[in-house]
Amino acid sequence: QLLHSELAGDEVIVVSNREPYIHEKNGNRIEVKRPASGLVTAVEAVMRACSGTWVAHGSGSADRMVVDRCDRVAVPPANPSYTLRRVWLSSEEEQGYYYGFANEGLWPLCHIAHVRPVFRSEDWNQYVAVNQRFADAVVKEARTDDPVVLVQDYHFALLPRMVRQALPRATIITFWHIPWPNPESFGICPWREQILEGMLGSTILGFHTPFHRRNFIETVDRYLETRIEAEASTISYDGKLTLVEAYPISIAWPESTTASTAEESRAIVCSDLGLPEDHLIGIGVDRLDYTKGIVERFQAVERMLERHPDMVGRFSFVQIAAPSRSSLEEYQQFAARVRKLAARINARCANGAYQPIVLKAEHHDHDRLLHYYRASQVCMVTSLHDGMNLVAKEYIAAREDEQGVLVLSQFTGAARELHEALIVNPYHIEQGADALHRALTMPRDEQRERMRSLRALVREFNVYRWAGRMLLDAARLRQRERIATRIH
Ligand code: G6P
Repeated sequence: QLLHSELAGDEVIVVSNREPYIHEKNGNRIEVKRPASGLVTAVEAVMRACSGTWVAHGSGSADRMVVDRCDRVAVPPANPSYTLRRVWLSSEEEQGYYYGFANEGLWPLCHIAHVRPVFRSEDWNQYVAVNQRFADAVVKEARTDDPVVLVQDYHFALLPRMVRQALPRATIITFWHIPWPNPESFGICPWREQILEGMLGSTILGFHTPFHRRNFIETVDRYLETRIEAEASTISYDGKLTLVEAYPISIAWPESTTASTAEESRAIVCSDLGLPEDHLIGIGVDRLDYTKGIVERFQAVERMLERHPDMVGRFSFVQIAAPSRSSLEEYQQFAARVRKLAARINARCANGAYQPIVLKAEHHDHDRLLHYYRASQVCMVTSLHDGMNLVAKEYIAAREDEQGVLVLSQFTGAARELHEALIVNPYHIEQGADALHRALTMPRDEQRERMRSLRALVREFNVYRWAGRMLLDAARLRQRERIATRIH
């Protein structure tokens, strides 16, 4: 409702790399999958509520073969409420723009995880060309000359300016879903000025935290000639004003209480894993990505078991790791490292069928994840650096029983809000081990108290609030512009 009143009949177009539904061919059947992506989790909820068009890269195998390059589909499949418009990329385009510049350049550049970014001119050229292709698609989809365009993430830093050139009256809201580093770190990018100029084509630029927002403003100050009004949080560049703000992203709070109880979920998960029902379980859910601190998490589990031998045989840590960007060498090496470490720890604690680390390097659907969240005494989110991290919020939303403890890295955006979690430095293995043990032995009353306050917070600051705040700011700016145009 809030979204509808903010939009008041405006046309909404979302643009992101990742599509919210992937059609995969399985024999003669077409399966519809949801990708593991914080961005999709959040933005999809918003699109279901406000309809419009979502422009994304068509990535599923069935799309090309069976749906026959169908450019537009109504989604969600069960209850269509908006249009998914796919842009098809050649393998050269995908290689240069997505794997190359976005994921070997910008991703490590913005995350301080000590993986060196790689910048190749060929990748950059594809990045520019693909941004233009998506900008053209947005312009083509637009039915009015002043749509609200919601640009998502680091794949499209250049697109706001490109859309602005074709649709000067558009309201362009760009949200950067990953951290923004300090000016020195960002400054090594050979195309830093072009990226900043591209982003400043936006009407509003959003980051998860005030810290990332400040880093961005300082980066602009260092590398471009602009006028910055720190107080109003605006940057004027090339005759255009951009509001730069922090909008912490969130999840849609589940509407109704779900069918299964925590006990039922435990029964399902324990039978899945072949564990007795009184076994203690810890859970981690991530893409298999080097920013997520999975190695440090396993080391913390190992250290905890060393220090508390009574936990050996009674506790297992289940890591669900969705394969990600696996054609990149950095990701292959990381996946191998994670597997090797899990095997070493398991061999060390071997005792019958007992495994302290259960590594499930595969994709799990949302319903399955809910069972795992409910069945686990502790959820560990130990990212080395993360824009927000929505797994932390999903775990909280799943704990209707007000039990369970969240161990959370201080380097996530979520740690700025979720103070009742056990906050840790993921690089400090002893601290992680202590937090894990504390979580596993925490009295039920303390768990309830912490979980209750976490739940109240996530319920209130949900994803509609995130989108609503951006749209409210946009509506204010639109109004101001209309008045200014009338005066001139
Ligand atoms: C992060 C990024 C998203 C991306 C997601 C999954 O959350 O901010 O833009 O969609 O990871 O990564 P992938 O490369 O599979 O889309």
